[in-house]
Amino acid sequence: MKPRIVAACRVTGAVAERARALFDPLFSDGDMNAEQAIAAVADHEAEGLLFTSSTKLTADAIGRLAPSLRIAATVSVGFDHVDVAAAQKRGLATTNTPDVLTNGTADLTMLLILAACRRAAEYLAIMRDGWRRRYAQDEMLGIEVTGKRLGIVGMGRIGRAVAQRARAFDMEIHYSNRSRLPPELEKGAIYHPTIDDMLPSVDVLTLHAPGGAANDKLINAARIARLPRGAVLVNASRGVLLDEDALIDALKSGQLAAAGLDVFRSEPDYDLRLRDLPNIFLTPHMGSATLETRNAMGNRALDNVEAVLSGRPPIDPLWR
Ligand code: DGY
Repeated sequence: MKPRIVAACRVTGAVAERARALFDPLFSDGDMNAEQAIAAVADHEAEGLLFTSSTKLTADAIGRLAPSLRIAATVSVGFDHVDVAAAQKRGLATTNTPDVLTNGTADLTMLLILAACRRAAEYLAIMRDGWRRRYAQDEMLGIEVTGKRLGIVGMGRIGRAVAQRARAFDMEIHYSNRSRLPPELEKGAIYHPTIDDMLPSVDVLTLHAPGGAANDKLINAARIARLPRGAVLVNASRGVLLDEDALIDALKSGQLAAAGLDVFRSEPDYDLRLRDLPNIFLTPHMGSATLETRNAMGNRALDNVEAVLSGRPPIDPLWR
C-alpha cells in the first residue's frame, strides 16, 4: 500500500502525476485553509501534507493535526505561515522548498525594477486607452535603469541572483545583510553594515529579507526619507517588510518616484489605495509563478515527503 498524503494546494499536472506514482494522494480543488487541511488529513489518514501560505499552521492547528501525519511540506521558500517551534515540539517534520524559486523570483524582481523605472503601468494604460496622441520629447519620461545604484536588503540566494541580473544593466550593487559575504559571493558589491547606512547611496532599493514579526515595517517613513529624493522601491519578498502608509505618502510627495510590488501586507485583499496611484506597478504575488519553478517547487516538496516517509531525514528541514 502506498503512503497516503493530502495536497492542500493545487499543484501542476506533472507534480500531481508524480504524487500519484509515489503515494495515495488526496488532491484539493483550491488552497485549503487550516481547518480544511486538518479535516482532510484526518479523513484520509494522511502521513504527508503539501500546503502553501493559505494553510496557516499555527501552534493550535498543529496541535489538532491527526497523529498519522509525519511531515508537513510547504510548497514555498517562505515559512512565516508555520509555527516551526510548535512543529518541533510535536515532532512533525516540516520542510520548505529553497533554491528552486531563486531564478523565477529574481526574474520577477527585474521586471518590477524595469516596470517601475520605465512607467510600465502608465504606458499600458495609455495603450489600453487607444493612445492616439504622440508624446513630446519631454513628456512621460522614465528613469534609466542602466548605470544606477541598486540597494539590496538581504543578500541571500535571491538577493544575489538579483545582483547578478542587475550587473548586466551596469548597475552598481550595494547591499546590507546580517554579515558581509565572502568575496566570491560579494562579487564587488558594496557592503553596508546597516540598512540606514546604505539608503542614502542608492537609486533603487529592493527587498529580499524574510517576513515575520522581527521584520515588520523594516522599511518605514524614516527609512524611506533616507533614500535620495526620487528613488524607486521594489518588494518581491514579503509584504510585512513595508509600511504601506509610508509608501503611499512617499509616492504622492515625490520622495519616491515609483514603486514595484509583488507582495502586500494583506493578500489577496490588498490595500486598494495602492491601485489608485499612477506611479506603481503591481503584480499579485507571482514571483515563483512559472511552470518550470512551480514544477520544481512541487517536486522538491515531494522529495521531502518521500524522504521522511521512507525513514530518511528531510532534505530541507525547518527544524533539526
Ligand atoms: C515563497 O515561496 O515563499 C513564495 O513567496 C510563494 O510563491
